[in-house]
Amino acid sequence: MTDALHRDLLALAQEAARRAGELLRDGRPADLAVAKTKSSPIDVVTEMDIAAEKLITDLISGQRPEDGFLGEEGASAEGTSGVRWVIDPLDGTVNYLYGLPTWAVSIAAEQDGETVVGVVAAPMRGETYHAVRGGGAWATGAWEGERALACRPAPPLDQALVSTGFNYVTEVRTHQAEVAARLVPLLRDIRRSGSAAVDLCDVASGRLDGYYERGLNAWDYAAGDLIAREAGALTGGRPGERPSRDLTVAGSPGVFEPLQRLLEDFGAWHD
Ligand code: IPD
Ligand code: CA
Ligand code: CA
Repeated sequence: MTDALHRDLLALAQEAARRAGELLRDGRPADLAVAKTKSSPIDVVTEMDIAAEKLITDLISGQRPEDGFLGEEGASAEGTSGVRWVIDPLDGTVNYLYGLPTWAVSIAAEQDGETVVGVVAAPMRGETYHAVRGGGAWATGAWEGERALACRPAPPLDQALVSTGFNYVTEVRTHQAEVAARLVPLLRDIRRSGSAAVDLCDVASGRLDGYYERGLNAWDYAAGDLIAREAGALTGGRPGERPSRDLTVAGSPGVFEPLQRLLEDFGAWHD
């Protein structure tokens, strides 16, 4: 029963992510403008973020009216089925606004509070990543069928390529820059893609050795976190904790542990 339910949830998440991805890719107005701002003047929302969330929630609630929702652009419902959808309709809005290709649609399904399905569609890469809890992580793209994802064998930390992100709130990003400055000499290099969901999937597919960020919301990491774990990566927050707003860390076993320790030593979760 559970397996059948998870398969159904996966199929629905894949359909919703595909349709939203097409809307965002094909429907981006040439003169796309900022519709409103949120936590700060640089935390922007476009009409396309809002349209994509509506498409996703209309599709899912049409088929599963009892489910709950948590969506970045305001979707919020308790639900009665035990299933809740955690949705970032457009992760990487600033990239999207500027016409940069790294952005994604991120859809996770939780059952009784545990993430059981994650789908991240990255339309400009032509790739979609997915996982069902206990079933491995997979990608579809410009190849035949599904490809299993596996995180990268860990290099020594000083040869690790690690991605991060910066919050929209000035004081938080200033502190994040200070932490990053302390990390740079200890790593191969640092990346900043502009999409937390893509970063987590890049850890899953071995394109990064690790990723960390402070200040994320559940919709940023829910799907990507499951995909990274199912690809063999370790994920967490501060030591012993799950990913949270305080801190989200992911990495190949062997990179995750020393990275998490350094982030704790550097006080990466607060200023
Ligand atoms: C943002 C992206 C970015 C991360 C920010 C997120 P949004 O999400 O994931 O990479 O650094 O913290 O808020 O605003 O584009 O959905
Ligand atoms: Ca986001
Ligand atoms: Ca978003």
